[in-house]
Amino acid sequence: MGKVSLGTLTAASLSIQAVGAQSEQNENTWKPVSERKVRVGIVGYGVCRFGAAFGFQDHPNVEVVAVSDLIPERREGLMKACRCNKSYESLGVLVKDPKIGAVFVATDAPNHARHCIEVLKHEKHVMTAVPAVLGSLEDAEQLLDVVKKVV
Ligand SMILES: NC(=O)c1ccc[n+]([C@@H]2O[C@H](COP(=O)([O-])OP(=O)(O)OC[C@H]3O[C@@H](n4cnc5c(N)ncnc54)[C@H](O)[C@@H]3O)[C@@H](O)[C@H]2O)c1
Repeated sequence: MGKVSLGTLTAASLSIQAVGAQSEQNENTWKPVSERKVRVGIVGYGVCRFGAAFGFQDHPNVEVVAVSDLIPERREGLMKACRCNKSYESLGVLVKDPKIGAVFVATDAPNHARHCIEVLKHEKHVMTAVPAVLGSLEDAEQLLDVVKKVV
C-alpha cells in the first residue's frame, strides 16, 4: 500500500497520481499504464470549491463514486462539477458506502482531523486539503494515532 500526501496529511492511501504504476514522461505527455480505477468520494464544496479543484474527476484512474456537502446547493454544484450522479447528505453517510475506497476531505479546516479520522475508521484511504489540523494539538495527536494504527 502506498501513501499519499495532499496538503499536510500523510495517511494510508494510494497515490492517486500513480495509481497502478509509474507515470511515463514522454514529450511531456503523461500516459496511464493501468486501467485500474480508484473509487473516490469527495466531500466539501465551500467558498474555495476545493472538492472539484484537484481534478480527481478528470483523472483516468479515478471514478468519482459519490460526493457530499451539507448544503444541498453546494452538493448539487459538486455533483455537476465532478459529473457524478450520486450524492450523500453528509460525510458521515458517504463513508458508509462500501463502493468508495478513498475519500477527499475538502470540508472546513477545523474539521479536517475529525473527518479524516472518521474516514480512516471506515477503513478507507483519505486525502485532505491543507491544513490537516487547525487549532488543536489534541486533534493532531488523535489523527496521528489513527494513522499509525491503519498504516
Ligand atoms: N478559504 C481559503 O482561503 C483556503 C485556502 C487554502 C485552502 N483552503 C482549504 O479549502 C478547503 C475548503 O475551504 P473553504 O473555505 O471552501 O471552506 P468552507 O467552510 O467554505 O466550506 C466547507 C464545506 O464543507 C462542507 N462540510 C462541512 N462538514 C461537512 C460534512 N460533515 N459533510 C459534508 N459536507 C461538509 C460545508 O457544508 C461547506 O460547504 C479547506 O480544506 C481549507 O482548509 C481554504
